[in-house]
Amino acid sequence: MSDFFALSEEHQAIREAVRALAEAKIAPHAADVDEQARFPQEAADALLAADFHAPHVPEQYGGAGADALATVLVIEEVARVDVSASLIPAVNKLGSLPVQIGGSEELKAKYLGALARGDGGFSYCLSEPDAGSDAAAQKTRAVRDGDAYVLNGVKRWITNAGESEYYTVLAMTDPEKRSKGISAFVVEKSDPGVSFGGKEKKLGIKGSPTREVYLDDVRIPADRLIGEEGKGFAYAMQTLDHTRVTIAAQAVGVAQGALDYALGYVQERKQFGKPISDNQGIQFMLADMGMKVEAARQITYAAAGRSERGDKDLTFFGAAAKAFASDVAMQVTTDAVQLLGGYGFTSDYPVERMMRDAKITQIYEGTNQVQRIVMARQLLAGVQSKL
Ligand code: CAA
Repeated sequence: MSDFFALSEEHQAIREAVRALAEAKIAPHAADVDEQARFPQEAADALLAADFHAPHVPEQYGGAGADALATVLVIEEVARVDVSASLIPAVNKLGSLPVQIGGSEELKAKYLGALARGDGGFSYCLSEPDAGSDAAAQKTRAVRDGDAYVLNGVKRWITNAGESEYYTVLAMTDPEKRSKGISAFVVEKSDPGVSFGGKEKKLGIKGSPTREVYLDDVRIPADRLIGEEGKGFAYAMQTLDHTRVTIAAQAVGVAQGALDYALGYVQERKQFGKPISDNQGIQFMLADMGMKVEAARQITYAAAGRSERGDKDLTFFGAAAKAFASDVAMQVTTDAVQLLGGYGFTSDYPVERMMRDAKITQIYEGTNQVQRIVMARQLLAGVQSKL
């Protein structure tokens, strides 16, 4: 039982491999990526070369076949040095998981195979200008026309839009039925009628382009429907149950990155003739930061286990891990800025970027208020207590 609640040797080896890659090939560009608000191409190349760009794709479709915990470790270690870059493996999972959950074997072989080979990334198009937290309020329409569907609408806040080749798009096939009238489709960047808005000017994760996706009479073959008509909302929600765990991983990673940097700084920085780490007030801050990061990590790994097994309480755990870890990330990165004092407030040091990047983890893949709705519904439905 000595390895009870510890990472397996394989998982530990994955963490070490990703940390080495992240420190050598991603960290050196993180400040520039943020300053220029440019796509982290060096990170994309390095992740692809090491087969960490979409680690979750099963081996049968040509992927690395990483389990949910291994995928979390990849995302955590990349986020520790650059949250923008960590969106590459995270959004590739988010975008392609509906195909993996609901798609036919043909669709999986085609699109998961293309993603694994590195033919292009995969984005997830659920949100719209008037469908954010209320994800079922979709206005995008998909109309069947012979052996095709024709899509029209606007998707907003789409991560890596324009960079990705493939898009899972949620659209109404039967507007009368609200969530039961939503279907999911694979759309390709090269499909006629697909275009993109300008890049949003954001507080953080500036290296990850966020754009609108416009669908103007986009005609796609009917076999691009994922699974069955009317099941799209369920696939979208099931996907988020799994991928909220990956947002928790980003949050743990950025919090750890900020804590590591602050730990080095407080032992170097001398005031009143001694390192500031000699002050108990500083030590108490460090202790709280370390305690919170570890608690966030443990709930994230526990949620990853549920994701891998497909446990009934994944919905609760995905929401809980995401909300808890992202709140921790915001607290810990803010404290790291405080520990660096005036230096922390400048872009000469990485912690202000980490603080700005941490903020999005409280917002995307469902605000932390939505996570609490999800958790409360699970509790009131008795899913937790029936385990
Ligand atoms: N698994 C399977 N099915 C689910 C489900 C789940 N986790 N959650 C809901 N469903 C099903 C329900 O069972 C229900 O079907 P029945 O009527 O047959 O029971 C149907 O879907 C509708 O469910 P609700 O009545 O619960 O739906 P709702 O309208 O009340 O919405 C919500 C629930 C939790 C608020 C949901 O809308 C939600 O999660 N909102 C947040 C959306 C979100 O996370 N957006 C993020 C976009 S992606 C992004 O940010 C990513 C990025 O680019 C990085």
